[in-house]
This record gives sequence, structure tokens and C-alpha cells, in this order.
Amino acid sequence: MNLLVYETPEELAEAAARDFASRAEETIYERGRFAVALAGGSTPKATYEVLARNYANELDWSKVQVFFGDERTVPPDHEDSNYRMARETLLSHIRVGSVHRMRCELPPEEAAAAYERELREFFGPDDVPRFDLILGGLGEDGHTLSLFPETAALDVTDRWVVANPVLKLGTTRLTLTIPVLNASRAVTFLVAGEGKADALKEILEGDADLRAYPAKLVHPESGDLIWMVDRAAAGSLKPPL
Ligand code: 6PG
Repeated sequence: MNLLVYETPEELAEAAARDFASRAEETIYERGRFAVALAGGSTPKATYEVLARNYANELDWSKVQVFFGDERTVPPDHEDSNYRMARETLLSHIRVGSVHRMRCELPPEEAAAAYERELREFFGPDDVPRFDLILGGLGEDGHTLSLFPETAALDVTDRWVVANPVLKLGTTRLTLTIPVLNASRAVTFLVAGEGKADALKEILEGDADLRAYPAKLVHPESGDLIWMVDRAAAGSLKPPL
């Protein structure tokens, strides 16, 4: 596990974009394509904007295959849609090889089954999909993607994407499951703001129940685990940082 602390959210975004681009360039050189699952929420927006602004000509984006780590059960043009956020900040500015959106305009179970089929078509029908990079954020309650504390998705081991009812939000979300995260060649968490400090401390230094802080369940078996955080989010971690 690699913990990288940046003074400001802007420095975090610059570093995350640089890391994304260098991983993509290396992976495309080695294996001809870069399969990445984008994170939703607000933190990754700045990273996607830096990628669109500074890296449009720095790598062969036509070899980048874009997936999503999770999605809200709303249409793709809804203000809460993670796809819409990624389209506005990145995907409408550069031409990627393919975009695999979670079709959450469908009923959740149907959308999850459709995405499962899409993953199995792309990565192969049997083995767990092995992404080159999965980006994740962190909620103040320790959730990541839409793997919320004490929700059913945390126990799924035979599917790669599920519709996950989140009672405290009064909604259902689609999310990649833990086996997919732990099969990834790399998982990078992007975390900013003092509101995340307690959850981050619990995840990196605490011994709370794994189901209470689902991001603690993420340990790629043979991949990199990187926490890219700003100084505010790192505020409760043990020094020296
Ligand atoms: C989502 C994300 C979710 C997000 C965290 C942090 O769909 O919202 O997948 O896991 O990463 O809630 O969100 P912020 O980056 O907005 O703080």
C-alpha cells in the first residue's frame, strides 16, 4: 500500500492525472490497451479536468477503454449521473477507444445484468475482470464506489457488478464488487477534505469491522493499492506524514 499526501486538492488532482497518464502509457505499450474504471462523486472531477486539459495529446487515448466503478440509478443526463460527470469533465474532450456506461435508465437488476454481460464480453466469460486501474473515492462513512457499510454487495463473490440497495440513501446503486477491485492491477483512491479524515484514519490505522468501512476490504491480490490524499484528509493520521 502506498500513501501519498499532497498539500492541496489541486496538487492531488495534478498528481493523480500524472499517475493515470503514466500508467496508461506504460500499459498500452506493454499490452496494447488500458482498461480503467472511473470513480464517481466530486473528488475525481478535478483529476479528469487536468487529464482533459494537459494530457489530451500525451497518450494514445484510442487504446483507453473506459468503464465505471459505480453509478446512481438515474438516466445518463441526470445531474447525479457519474457518467454525465465524466462525460462533461473528460470524455467529451478526448476520444477514447470505448465507453462502457452502466445503463441505469433500466431497472437496477436489469442494468446490473447488462453490465455483467458487458464485462464478461470484454474481459472473458469466466475469470474475474482484471482492470488495469480502478479509481475510487471515499465517503465519510468509509464507503467506496457504491459499496456502503453493511450492504448486501459486500458479500457478493460470484458476480462482478450488482444492484446494491442503500437504505440510508433511500436508493439503489450499481457497483463493481470486491472481487473485481481485488483483481485489479491497480486501485487508486482519491481522497480530499477534512470530512474524510476520520474514515481514512480508521481504514489505514484502525481495527474497526471491515463491513463498517468497506474501503478496508480493498487489497488487490497482485496489484498496486495507492491512497492519494490531501493534507486535510490526512489530518488524523499518525505523524510523520
Ligand atoms: C459516488 C462514488 C462514491 C464517492 C464517495 C466520495 O458514486 O458518489 O462512487 O463512492 O466516491 O461518496 O464522494 P466525493 O468525492 O464527492 O466526496
